[in-house]
Formats: sequence, C-alpha cells, structure tokens
Amino acid sequence: MSAKLKTQNSKLKTPARNVPPRWRKEVERVLITEGQIARRIFVMAREIERDFRGREMVVVSLLNGTVMFLADLMRHLSLPLRLDFMGVSSYGAGTESGELVFTKELRLDMRGRDVLLIDDILDTGRTMSRVLPKLRALKPRRIKICVLLDKPSRRIENVKANYIGFEIPDYFVVGYGLDFAERYRNLPFVGVLHPHVYKQACRRVNEAFCHK
Ligand code: IMP
Ligand code: MG
Repeated sequence: MSAKLKTQNSKLKTPARNVPPRWRKEVERVLITEGQIARRIFVMAREIERDFRGREMVVVSLLNGTVMFLADLMRHLSLPLRLDFMGVSSYGAGTESGELVFTKELRLDMRGRDVLLIDDILDTGRTMSRVLPKLRALKPRRIKICVLLDKPSRRIENVKANYIGFEIPDYFVVGYGLDFAERYRNLPFVGVLHPHVYKQACRRVNEAFCHK
C-alpha cells in the first residue's frame, strides 16, 4: 500500500521551502520530511511482519541507496531474519540509469527462503528486472519487493513493488540514502535536486544519459 504524496508543481516554485540553509543551493525543496519517513516506515514494518511471520525470512538489500531505509525499517521488524546485500551499480553520471553492473554477490543460501528484496526507489524498473531473475535462480520460496519510493510514471519494465513507502511524481530526488553522482546520501530527508546541479554535471561530462 503506498501513501500518495499530495505534491503539487506549484509548491515546487517556492524556492528552498523547508530546506536547511546548508543545502539550499542544491536542493530545491524537501519532498518528504524525516518525520513522514519515520511514520511511514513504522506502518510498513507492521505490514511486512504480518506477511512474513513464521517464515524463514532473508532481507536482501541493494547497495548503496538502501542504507538508511534498511537500517530504519529493520529495527522495526521484530522477526527472526537474515540479512544479505547485493551490489548493483549503473554506469553514467546523469539522472538516467546506464548499464547495470553487479558489484557484490549474495552470500547466504536463498533456497526455500522468503525474501524481502529492498531498494531505495523503483524508477524505470530496469534494476529490478535484472536483479529478479538472478535472485529467482537461487530458488527462494517467494520474493516480495519493498521500496521507499516509487515513480510509476517512469516505468519501462513491468515490475511492481509489494510494499511502497511513497509514490512520487517524476522528480529527481536525493537524500535518505539516494544519491546524485554519489553525493547527498547523508541528507536526513528526501529532497528534490535542483535541476541546475545535474545540468551542470551533465555539461561537465557531456553525459548523454542526462535528462534534457
Ligand atoms: P531503475 O532501474 O530505473 O528502476 O532505477 C533504480 C535505481 O536508479 C535506484 O536504485 C536508484 O539508485 C536510481 N534512481 C532512480 N531514480 C532516482 C532518483 O530520483 N534519485 C536518485 N536515484 C534514483
Ligand atoms: Mg543510485
């Protein structure tokens, strides 16, 4: 179940709304506050607990964007679980995902387990459509997908998440683990990156993947 964000374009025009002064040049506005994230995660954890009770649960988290989400979600899961990571990285410095490369493989046995696959954001669905067959080949009993954010308007692949923190419009967002060119992961909120930041970066690297 997703909590649709009542986000209006008009609000975006208000410069630096809610943004701590340190980040105002780069972050246009706070889209989801720390408090909203915390409250939503608490509710998601209850749903997940209900569905995984009595199962051999393995949490598979995709690096690196899930770090904060995973840590906060996991501390609210009062279930026996195992944790493993899969490293996935896409080449390209722009806001579009490029070619996908696996940087870390799973170590735990997935056979017959109930897997909770966690990512920061479901965008085009390309990442999930590459990760899922790899995971299915390890013969888990079932795989449920959990994402903090979902941008359904950008979907190319037919992938749906079972647990969604927030459905968001097509903004490039950073913070709470999400990056642009490996930066901004440390922001405690999810914010809309100011287009001038990625336009500048795109010009610098002449990156064809970038948004126009
Ligand atoms: P997909 O493969 O297009 O679904 O994108 C998934 C990955 O792209 C995520 O795991 C993120 O790392 C990255 N991504 C997609 N949209 C955003 C965004 O708005 N901000 C930061 N990273 C994003
Ligand atoms: Mg990323």
